[in-house]
Amino acid sequence: MSADQNNRLPGGESGASDESIQRVHSQLLHEKPEPKEGYRTMPLFLLGLVSAMIFVTSIYVVQHRGGFSPLVYDERFEPKAAGATAAKELTPEQIVASGKKAYLSACVNCHQASGQGVAGVYPPLAGSAWVTGNEERVIRVLLHGLSGPVDVEGTAYNGAMPAFGKVTGGGFNWSEEKVSHVLTYIRQEWGNKAAPVTKDKVAEVLSTEKARASAWTQAELDPFK
Ligand code: HEC
Repeated sequence: MSADQNNRLPGGESGASDESIQRVHSQLLHEKPEPKEGYRTMPLFLLGLVSAMIFVTSIYVVQHRGGFSPLVYDERFEPKAAGATAAKELTPEQIVASGKKAYLSACVNCHQASGQGVAGVYPPLAGSAWVTGNEERVIRVLLHGLSGPVDVEGTAYNGAMPAFGKVTGGGFNWSEEKVSHVLTYIRQEWGNKAAPVTKDKVAEVLSTEKARASAWTQAELDPFK
């Protein structure tokens, strides 16, 4: 049996033999070589190379960034300087407004919105020399309180004024700033005319009197008149 006979089609005509098919195909294959060899390995190699370069240069950039933080937009940003701008000085109007707010929340029940107090019980702040006089005295009244017999513009009172400062033995623990604001307010309200009280002055008096733990008496404050 010849190969030709083997490949004879059912109809009897002769077909191509296995060898002739292979011969033709090998020629075709030879003319058009598999395209993938020359074109798949290069991009893979390049991809690896580029990735490696990006990786290595990122590490380099991170290690040589010269103090630049990638988390902030402005590398010269100074949190301290920014805080200082935020906490900038209040205007005199803002200080008075802040003092009024403090007065209305903490003093108004006794001394009244009019600053007239309550006859025989709570002394007036309007027109009182205690308020408009030496700041050394009124700061002490606010920080530690006042008790026992006192004379306010010729009228006698005998009550107890609570302590508002950060003092031993209780008090409302107000900041020096808040104390200075309320004092500045009462010194210019209801026709009173006296200079503002600074928070530095309040802080100074507080540190001078830091050993004190009780309310003042009028006699003790007379030297500060
Ligand atoms: C619980 C009531 C009460 C409150 C609240 C109070 N005071 Fe007084 N205050 C008094 C009494 C009572 C006196 C007189 C003390 C005495 O008789 O020894 C006084 C005295 C004073 C004096 C000196 C006397 C005068 O009339 O000038 C000043 C100043 C003063 N208070 C300011 C304030 C300020 C400011 C506040 C709010 C931060 C305040 N007081 C909150 C009851 C109070």
